[in-house]
Amino acid sequence: AYVVTDPCIQCKHTNCAAVCPVDAFREGPNFLVIDPFECIDCDACVAECPEEAIFPDDEVPLEWEDYIELNDRLSEEWAEHVINQAKESLPDVDKWSGKENKRKHLIE
Ligand code: F3S
Repeated sequence: AYVVTDPCIQCKHTNCAAVCPVDAFREGPNFLVIDPFECIDCDACVAECPEEAIFPDDEVPLEWEDYIELNDRLSEEWAEHVINQAKESLPDVDKWSGKENKRKHLIE
């Protein structure tokens, strides 16, 4: 499965969700996750993300490996919040784009 990682937090562009053929994305307040049981590894979302936040699970950078479990867990918690179209990025995206280590700002 593909995994959404740290660069998404506080940006949430949502372009990724619009191209997913199986509606695998789930939405939280300032982050999206991919349900690993829905993802078919098509790769369509990766190129859509301007933050380069999405990786196949076997290519997640070492410092973000915990996002594999996080996508799994939050996709269950946010199961009702399916997102399958793009909407406005978060308002402070210019401030947060490119920032590192945003995990502490994640709203679950
Ligand atoms: Fe996040 Fe990138 Fe999608 S910032 S919402 S993973 S397009």
